[in-house]
Amino acid sequence: MNTRRLGSTGPVVSAIGLGCMGMSGAYGPADEVESIATIHAALDAGINLLDTGDYYGMGHNELLIREALRGRDRDDAVVSVKFGALRAPDNAFIGIDGRPVAVKNSLAYTLQRLGTDHVDIYRLGRVDPAVPIEETIGAIAEMIEAGYVRHVGLSETGADTARRAHAVHPVADLQIEYSLLSRGIETEILPTCRQLGVAVTAYGVLSRGLLGGDWSRERASSPGDIRAHMPRFRPENLDRNLALVEALRTIADEKGATVAQIAIGWVLTRGEDIVPLVGTTRRDRLAEAIGALELELTTDNLAAIERAAPPGAAAGDRYDERQMAMLDSERSEPPEALPQPGESPARLFHSAQTSRARGGEGTCLKR
Ligand SMILES: NC(=O)c1ccc[n+]([C@@H]2O[C@H](COP(=O)([O-])OP(=O)(O)OC[C@H]3O[C@@H](n4cnc5c(N)ncnc54)[C@H](OP(=O)(O)O)[C@@H]3O)[C@@H](O)[C@H]2O)c1
Repeated sequence: MNTRRLGSTGPVVSAIGLGCMGMSGAYGPADEVESIATIHAALDAGINLLDTGDYYGMGHNELLIREALRGRDRDDAVVSVKFGALRAPDNAFIGIDGRPVAVKNSLAYTLQRLGTDHVDIYRLGRVDPAVPIEETIGAIAEMIEAGYVRHVGLSETGADTARRAHAVHPVADLQIEYSLLSRGIETEILPTCRQLGVAVTAYGVLSRGLLGGDWSRERASSPGDIRAHMPRFRPENLDRNLALVEALRTIADEKGATVAQIAIGWVLTRGEDIVPLVGTTRRDRLAEAIGALELELTTDNLAAIERAAPPGAAAGDRYDERQMAMLDSERSEPPEALPQPGESPARLFHSAQTSRARGGEGTCLKR
């Protein structure tokens, strides 16, 4: 398995990582046996980077990973964990907590659920506008000092926040959406990461399945599937986006590859400092993703891909309006004023608690 280093100080990981969010219902019900078999197949193939979040299925995802790692050498996996999203018992998203005490508390529960003595990379899922990033990163750094965490990561931060975080403690990687349909990081965020020596772990490489090549207008969404709220899957945008997939399919067919392999392969060509996270719950799709590592995209192929899906070609934002407003990475203005003394850090997001689905960021962080 090809490997890449995460930033100048981070771990060496497989050139693609496995995103485990879908295994806890983010895209509808997932088969637990097949999910665990998929994690095993990934590890057996040399994919050591496993991405999770403590709020994926409210602990379910970490327990699943614990089960998958049982009996294996802990060092075979680089476990990357997000924290900070607050959920109510009915699964509603009720805020973000990046306070130092929350860092330590969340980590304690995560270590227990994972059944391990350390997390390899620990990151706040979304920037908490009520807590300076320096405080959150400082607390993770303390946990590194104490031996419970190996590396600091970031998630969906803008360039300025990444700089501030990196000044407190070296950051291994920024996890952020990056794909043929989401190229927003190219102007400022990616150059900043490169300047700092911070890698990018790219998620949504398949644009949540759109670039999987088998999406259709007729496809009914399963209960809890976060794509029901995602603009790119809305009827008014879907035809345009499916046309982009068909244009990419022509190139895929010529290469004897699949659209998903073209999408993953394209991200792999964007730099040795970028590691695509592929989200799947199935061994056959994992095998397809691994096949992308063998794909050789020539300069002509890359030019054809750019013509088929030029930057900005996708119809619809990557998240809905409310979720977009919560992304530090999409913010051009300074974050909203900090809460007054006595106010809950979560108060900025109480109005956002509409999620009833079980899954990941697409619901718990954005609806
Ligand atoms: N930091 C953040 O804010 C953030 C946000 C979202 C996700 N993430 C992380 O990034 C990981 C990957 O992102 P993602 O899962 O949202 O998006 P993704 O990888 O773009 O898409 C995942 C979807 O694509 C489908 N898929 C995978 N391979 C396929 C193939 N060959 N053909 C057709 N469909 C295919 C999967 O279904 P099957 O399971 O049926 O294969 C799943 O529904 C997540 O698991 C999570 O760990 C992080």
